[in-house]
Amino acid sequence: MDLKKLVYDQIKDVEILSCVDNLYQLLTVTQDSKNGDITLPCFSLAKILHKSPVAIGDEVVGAIHSDIFQNIVNVNGYVNFFFKKDMLFGKIIENFGKSDISKTGAGKTLFIDFSSLNLAKYMHIGHLSTTVIGSVIANTYEHIGYDVKRLNYVGDYGTPFGKMIAAIKHWGDESEIEKKGVDYIQDLYVKFNVEADNQPSLMDEARDWFKRIEDGEPEATRIYNKIITVSIAEAKRLCDILGINFDSWRGEAYYNDKMGPIIDTLNEKGLLVTSEGAKIVDLEPYGLGACMIQKSDGASLYATRDLATAVDRYNTYHFDLGLYVTSVQQNLHFARWFKVLELMGYDYAKNLRHIAYGTYSLPTGKIGSRFGKQALVKDMLDLSITKAKDVVISRGTKVDDIDALARSIGIGAVKFGVLKTERIKDCVFDLESSLNFDGETSPYIQYTYARCNSIINKSNGLEKVGDISDVDNFDTFELVKYVNDLDKTILDSANDFEPCYISRFLLGLCGLFNKFYNNYRIIDGDKVNKYRLQLVGAVKLALATGLKLLGIDATEVM
Ligand code: ARG
Repeated sequence: MDLKKLVYDQIKDVEILSCVDNLYQLLTVTQDSKNGDITLPCFSLAKILHKSPVAIGDEVVGAIHSDIFQNIVNVNGYVNFFFKKDMLFGKIIENFGKSDISKTGAGKTLFIDFSSLNLAKYMHIGHLSTTVIGSVIANTYEHIGYDVKRLNYVGDYGTPFGKMIAAIKHWGDESEIEKKGVDYIQDLYVKFNVEADNQPSLMDEARDWFKRIEDGEPEATRIYNKIITVSIAEAKRLCDILGINFDSWRGEAYYNDKMGPIIDTLNEKGLLVTSEGAKIVDLEPYGLGACMIQKSDGASLYATRDLATAVDRYNTYHFDLGLYVTSVQQNLHFARWFKVLELMGYDYAKNLRHIAYGTYSLPTGKIGSRFGKQALVKDMLDLSITKAKDVVISRGTKVDDIDALARSIGIGAVKFGVLKTERIKDCVFDLESSLNFDGETSPYIQYTYARCNSIINKSNGLEKVGDISDVDNFDTFELVKYVNDLDKTILDSANDFEPCYISRFLLGLCGLFNKFYNNYRIIDGDKVNKYRLQLVGAVKLALATGLKLLGIDATEVM
């Protein structure tokens, strides 16, 4: 429910305002809602209308005869509109959840390239951000009606795979790959990196093996395929645990032999320049340096593959919007190849966006994967679930399936760690505080949701009493207006690609709701206040919607 629109519809025909064309934009949500709900500041109108703001305000107040307002006051040229509370309660709460937000993106297609981890590596906590942020943006666009394609553009190409084969040849056994899975090749990969520091010739071997993969040599291909199969299986397993799925797992390797047309077009358009034997597109005029397209040895590059991939995605999906969720370190990479695509004449280049995020680390510092396997997503999830279980037991849960509850809370807390701050900010994940039921945490939201659920269950069959004045006091109305912002929050979150708008909205909602819950009786003996109950229902629905977008379980009972 757009409250500004509600006022706009009442004032648009007021004679003195008829020549104001940005009237809707002028309306603001009243700063302190004790002074009203919506305000029309008349200062900018004074010049156009050649009258003082106070005089304009007086005319507006005098001209409106609408029964949706309880009061309209002109305070020094600010016209403050107070809605009738029962009217607003009816409009907001009785129709809650029936908006047509899902029509926003009707007929539009969006692809989102996220997670996209390099398969040579374990999924470590650095990969969590892209996976979690990407999935929330995907959910949000789906919620507003887009046809969303979730693409996991796995890194299944490059020298790391040559390193793995070299390592298997030196210290391992090919037949163990399928049996022991990803742990086995990971250990060998780590060993390779350690050994290669003392023995540089190992790197030549790795490059040689990679070349053999590229040439399709049978032995190299066979081992490579085994590595990819077990790696994808493990990545899928983790995404399953996180409850995140994809429409495609087509990775970089697939596009490697599809770059000819890109190079041809670049040549035709006269965009390719040879520089020290390599082929580049000069982007100096745009302040972007150069985009390297082909190395001097003919090898293709990350950017070239991205160009080929984007063209293929357009031909497949005819997308209206294409998103790439990666760390902020890749800003330049995306800026460059987006520009190249534009210069090639592909109009849809303007519909591509790089969604960058900052570093996600543990209190002990940043963790890489080259030399170690600490801070792996799977370990972190296990730990979080175990701790969540301790917490719920110590709080004396009445749930039968404690393990399922601990999973919902534990996994939710890890995700929420990524989602609660602006994506571009670096964040440190502290497990202890993330599982605190009273902090700005996901368990707090889940707990509030369960509280709403329990009130609704308890009220079943009770006599419904009360009148509208039970919900028109100031505090309660703050909650009514707050919950009304759900759709706006979701749309803003989609527009800015900012999941934290939703997480913060939910935290704020929980704060106001718990205050309402503590101050007002909803159930009294065998009677339930029907207006307050309706409000609980709306809050419950808003929490469920938000949690679903964040990919966090709404726990019915805690
Ligand atoms: N695999 C890359 C990495 O881990 C991210 C790929 C992002 N997607 C893309 N189309 N470039 O850095």
